Amino acid sequence: MSASRGEFTSRFGFILAAAGSAVGLGNIWGFPTQTAGNGGAAFVLVYLILAFFLAYPAFMAELVIGRHGQANAVTSLRKISNNSTQRIFAFIVGFGGIVCAALILSFYGIIAGWMMSYAVEPVTRVVGLTAVGDWVISQSLARNLLFVSIFMFMTVSIIRFGVEQGIEKWSKRLMPALIIILLSLIGYVMTLEGASEGLQAYLLPDFSRVLDPNLLVSALGQAFFSLSLGTSVMIIYGSYISRKENLVTLGAQVTLIDVSIAFLAGLLIIPAMYVAQASGVTIFGEDGSLVSGPGLVFSVLPALFDGMGSMGVLFSFAFFVLMSVAALTSSISMLEGPVSYVVENHGVERKKATTLIGIFILMLSCIIVFNLGTLLDFVATLSTEYGQPIIGMLCCIFVGWIWHRNNLLSELQSGYEGVEHSLFWKIWPWYTKLVCPLCIGLVFFNSL
Ligand code: PFF
Repeated sequence: MSASRGEFTSRFGFILAAAGSAVGLGNIWGFPTQTAGNGGAAFVLVYLILAFFLAYPAFMAELVIGRHGQANAVTSLRKISNNSTQRIFAFIVGFGGIVCAALILSFYGIIAGWMMSYAVEPVTRVVGLTAVGDWVISQSLARNLLFVSIFMFMTVSIIRFGVEQGIEKWSKRLMPALIIILLSLIGYVMTLEGASEGLQAYLLPDFSRVLDPNLLVSALGQAFFSLSLGTSVMIIYGSYISRKENLVTLGAQVTLIDVSIAFLAGLLIIPAMYVAQASGVTIFGEDGSLVSGPGLVFSVLPALFDGMGSMGVLFSFAFFVLMSVAALTSSISMLEGPVSYVVENHGVERKKATTLIGIFILMLSCIIVFNLGTLLDFVATLSTEYGQPIIGMLCCIFVGWIWHRNNLLSELQSGYEGVEHSLFWKIWPWYTKLVCPLCIGLVFFNSL
C-alpha cells in the first residue's frame, strides 16, 4: 500500500498545502466576523493566545499520528492502539473525524458557492449582463444549487489527481495568489477615509472583555476550525510528510501562517467596514455592535464596493475571488480525508472514490440547500461546535494516554534528532496529555 501512497515532494509543498487547508473562509470571513461580534481587539488577543497554546499542540498531535501511521486517520490511530478496545476507539475517533470533514464540506461548499457567485457578478456587469448579475447574487434555490455544484466539481477535479499533482500543485498556485490579492486589497483600503478608525477598533483591546466566557468559547472554536482540527485532515496531511522533515517546526510554520493570514484578513475587513461607514453605510446593528455574519460579507462590503465606482467593480471581483480561492484550498483537504480512507481501506481506485464521495457530499449539500433555514446552521453547529472539539480532544488523549511515550519520541526524532533535549519535548507531551484535553473539555462544556 505504501508504495502507491502519495507524498508531498517538498517541505514547501506541505507547508502550502496545510496552510491552504487552514486558511479558508474561517480566516477571511469567520475571524474578522467574530472579531467584529466580540469586542474587536480583545477577541484578537484571546485568539492569538489560544491558537498558539491550545490549537498548536493539538495540531501537532494530529500531524504526528498521521506521519507515524503513514495512512488515513482510522488506520493511523489503530497503529498506535495497544489492544482491541483501543482499536475500536481508534475507529470511532478516526471515522468520526472523516464524517466531520464530510459534513463540514457539505455546508462549506454552499457558502463557497455564494462567494463564487459574488465573484461572477462584477464580471456580468462589465459585459452588460445586468439581469444575470442580479440573479447570481439573489438568494434562490437554482442559484445555490448551480454554484455549489460548480464548486464541488472543482474540488473533485483537484482531488482526483492525488497528492503531488492535485493537492500540492494547486496549493502552490492558489496560495501565493491568495496572499497577493489580500495584500493588494489591504494596501488599497488603507488609503481610504475611515480606515484608521477601523484600525483602532481592531487593534486596541478592551481588556475587560478578555475573560468573557462567550468570547473564550468563540475564540477556541475559531482556532480549531481554522487549523482544520478534529476532522482527520491534519492526520492525513501528516501522513504525506516525509520522515526526513522536522514536524515540530513544520507545524509551527503552518500555525504561524494561518494566524497571520487571519490577522491580515482582519486588517482588511474591519477597516473596510469603517470606510463603508464613512460613505454612509450602516455598520452597527440595533444593539450597537458591529454587523457580523453574512450581513457583513454580503451587504456591508458590497455596499462599500458599490460606492467606489469603477474601482469598486475591480475591488469586488478581487475580494470574492480571494474568498473562493481560500475556500477551494480548504475544501480539497476536507475531501481528501474520506477519499484516502475509502482508497486505502476499501481498495477503491482513487478517481472513482473521489467522484463517488464528491457526488455523495454534493447530495448532502443539496438537501441542505432545500432546507437552508433549518439545516445550514444545524450542520455547521453539529460539525464545528461539537464534532471538531470532541474529536480534537480525543486525538490529544490518544497521543497523551495511549501512545507509548518512547515510540512517540522516536517518531518525532525522525527529522529532528535533538528533539529529546528541546523545549518542545519538555512541555508538549504533558501539555497534550493534561492541559489540552482539560481546557478543550472545559471550554466545550461551558458552551453547552
Ligand atoms: N480551516 C478552514 C477555514 O479556516 O476555513 C476550514 C476547514 C478546513 C475546516 C478543513 C475543517 C477542515 F477539515
